[in-house]
Amino acid sequence: MSNPLFLDPDDFVASGVQRVIYYHPKDKTRLIKILKATDTMPMRRNFGGILEKLVPSTRLRLVSKEYTEYLRIMLSNPAPSFHLPIAHMYGFIQTTIGLGCLTERVMKPDGALGDTLLDKVRSDSLSDADLELLNDMIQRIYNHHIRASDFNPKNFVFGQRDNGTGLGPKECVMVDGFGDIHALPVRSMAKWSNRIGLDDGCKRISAKTGLAWDKHTKLFSRTSKTPARTD
Ligand SMILES: Nc1ncnc2c1ncn2[C@@H]1O[C@H](COP(=O)(O)OP(=O)(O)O)[C@@H](O)[C@H]1O
Ligand SMILES: [Mg+2]
Repeated sequence: MSNPLFLDPDDFVASGVQRVIYYHPKDKTRLIKILKATDTMPMRRNFGGILEKLVPSTRLRLVSKEYTEYLRIMLSNPAPSFHLPIAHMYGFIQTTIGLGCLTERVMKPDGALGDTLLDKVRSDSLSDADLELLNDMIQRIYNHHIRASDFNPKNFVFGQRDNGTGLGPKECVMVDGFGDIHALPVRSMAKWSNRIGLDDGCKRISAKTGLAWDKHTKLFSRTSKTPARTD
């Protein structure tokens, strides 16, 4: 058995509700995501939070559903030209602070994490080019019938991915919240039921960002709350 990879628990780069994110100390193209210990998580009084306290395996299910969706999409789109709208997932790695999920890093040219849609909206820095990248990703999510359960502006990251020979073009990538985690997997039932879920998710993004959502064209656009910026 090989030694676990050393990670300093305090040296994280981002922290979500469920997971703490670390740079891979030896690979600039990867991140390591570690599930938070249940006893360190704040009590959440919503349905998901209560369920996680009562049934701790719910959180493992979340990771497992994420992988299932990643595998489903990759195996049904094997062509090298396939442009994946979600972050690549590379399995697990043993670390000194627990089992880590190895994930592709969506980054700035210096390797720092890319900004999320929420960062850009809050700092009033969403450019027209960013809006196009967001819409391009959303169109691909619909076209490939990707099951998503948490459309949240913190889960969409703008940046570049390593394509084996260097950094690729700038794009918007969904880094979390995919997979059908619902107790009744209605999204996996049919393409039409998944579309209803995606439409709901986009409405939620619109409410959280102030961007307008057109469910017919499947495009986000600016409103007075999200004025135009140039790069
Ligand atoms: N693959 C990635 N590339 C760049 N940034 C990421 C990536 N994955 C996560 N992040 C950043 O870390 C934050 C938390 O990660 P996330 O996977 O969403 O955790 P949680 O499941 O707790 O919400 C994200 O909001 C984003 O800012
Ligand atoms: Mg998240």
